[in-house]
Amino acid sequence: MTYSLTKKVREKLEEEARNVLDFNYNGRFTKPAPNLYPHQWNWDAGFIALGYAHWQPERAWSELRHLFEAQWQNGMLPQIVFGTEWEARYFPGSDFWQTQGVAGVPEGVQSSGITMPPVHGFCVWQLAKLDPDKARVQKMLHYFYPKILALHQYLYTFRDPNEEGLVYIRHPWEAGTDNSPLWDAAMARIDLSAVSLPAYERQDLQNSRAAEHRPQQADYDRYVYLVDLFRKHAYNEAAIAAECPFKIQDPLFNSLLIWSNECLIDIGKTLKQEVTQLIEWNELSIYSMNEKLWNESTGLYDAYDLVSRETIACTTLSGLMPLVAPVPSQEQAERMAQTLCSAGFWGTDANPLYCVPTTRVDATAYQPERYWRGPVWINANWLLWQGLQRYGFEKMAKQVRLDSLELLARHGFFEYFDARRDAQSAAGYGTDQFSWSAALCLDFIANKKSFHKLFNQR
Ligand code: GLC
Repeated sequence: MTYSLTKKVREKLEEEARNVLDFNYNGRFTKPAPNLYPHQWNWDAGFIALGYAHWQPERAWSELRHLFEAQWQNGMLPQIVFGTEWEARYFPGSDFWQTQGVAGVPEGVQSSGITMPPVHGFCVWQLAKLDPDKARVQKMLHYFYPKILALHQYLYTFRDPNEEGLVYIRHPWEAGTDNSPLWDAAMARIDLSAVSLPAYERQDLQNSRAAEHRPQQADYDRYVYLVDLFRKHAYNEAAIAAECPFKIQDPLFNSLLIWSNECLIDIGKTLKQEVTQLIEWNELSIYSMNEKLWNESTGLYDAYDLVSRETIACTTLSGLMPLVAPVPSQEQAERMAQTLCSAGFWGTDANPLYCVPTTRVDATAYQPERYWRGPVWINANWLLWQGLQRYGFEKMAKQVRLDSLELLARHGFFEYFDARRDAQSAAGYGTDQFSWSAALCLDFIANKKSFHKLFNQR
């Protein structure tokens, strides 16, 4: 089924996407959504900046500047930077995280105490390429280069205990794909029977429909348990590492780090900086992704649980994300493309799907409406679209782009979408007016080609 993106539809989408971003912009940063996510989120800021790049480059840069102003002294870039609006009810809020006054947290900053996928290297490089004001670009590259480098240094120093170039996440919220089935076994192993959890009240069950899609209570208790552990240790990385029961090497997180390393190397060279360290990190990361995480029989990269020392067989889109970076060889990429084309991800005539469900629809973990367990997310599609073009899979890339735009045009700027194409299931889920759906829509419309194609990156 080919969707035709007429000029009229395109113009309407563009106008509506800009309205969503304007509505969510509070003069300092752009909230992911007006009600459900009323603060600034880390990787959202990167995707949002990509949308502004085509329209208001100044706001694109300031979005990321606001985020990096909250960077901790050890290089950690927080997952959430809290705004100050009184109405911004969110759990867990800054009072729960208790990061204020912790050594190395900038004065006046209210943030969470975990990080998120490192998208900033490739986002900044894309902004730099798109911004016509080259004097500003120079200034911004000088500003961001040492900060992003410090973030990568933090990840390689504190999150790579085996010095193998693969960094771990220590909370599902760090993955960005919070509720992915990849975390199930590790989460189930956290035994709360003898633990007294701090009292808390969820704020994410604002309407009954959304409540059905959100993580289960047992998961939430474990999310809270981990935060409590981190704050008990006053965010001391060594103490947390010694005790944390959740440490996972995720192919998505590591692939975004590798792509950002690659871009940071280019930025460093432009600025005449010494980039040997970055090159060494990246070579090791790429090597270990292939040595440790590649699964020849499924044609996907797996995740790895550093606590149980087990491979987590990947049934999610995370396993295909190494396509965004120079990780797979062309031969491996062909194998990954075959996996993507299979019934579980691409559908069949009898079970037509929108590209691309976040969990294979033939996996037992698949849940068509539940957050990160099946539905299509626009940022995941955008990343895959980049990766498919990097390795020359033009037809598939085109389909991913068109399906994304079709979903947005049919349903609006929802947070995620049902992958099933039949009319009864067709729906957008989660919050509406979701900023990265709007921002990446603008990028999909502006660029028929990916970053690599446009800028001839290696
Ligand atoms: C959800 C998503 C996460 C995103 C956040 C704010 O928690 O899982 O990836 O960053 O919302 O939009």
